[in-house]
Amino acid sequence: MPLFVWKKDYSVGVDLLDDHHKNLFRILNVLYENTMQPRVVDEVLPIIAELREYTRYHFAAEELHMQDKGFPEITDHIVKHRNFTHQIEELQSQHRNDDLEDTRKLIVVLGNWLLNHVLVEDRKYSEWHKGDGI
Ligand SMILES: [Fe+2]
Ligand SMILES: [Fe+2]
Repeated sequence: MPLFVWKKDYSVGVDLLDDHHKNLFRILNVLYENTMQPRVVDEVLPIIAELREYTRYHFAAEELHMQDKGFPEITDHIVKHRNFTHQIEELQSQHRNDDLEDTRKLIVVLGNWLLNHVLVEDRKYSEWHKGDGI
């Protein structure tokens, strides 16, 4: 059973962004599973890099979309994205110290952050464009 599971309730009403979120959860699950097996420690770093790259790609696409639609809370949203990006960078440097236990804990923190972000923050956009946003 994967740690993070995307559900229909998480939809932001934009298929492309939903697909991005599904993929982010998938990467986090792969990452977590790999930290549970100390034998594959060397395989973890490229997955962290993938998470970082994919997060950057998703945030850019999402911010562009929100900007296009004139989402009024975009500035606040961008700040939240930046904070998350910094946390992934922290994960990257921490993992270089080979502390797998700390890496695992941080993955859970990041996963929960992402889950909360999709459910609460991205949902604000979803609710807004369902109303008079478009
Ligand atoms: Fe998002
Ligand atoms: Fe977002």
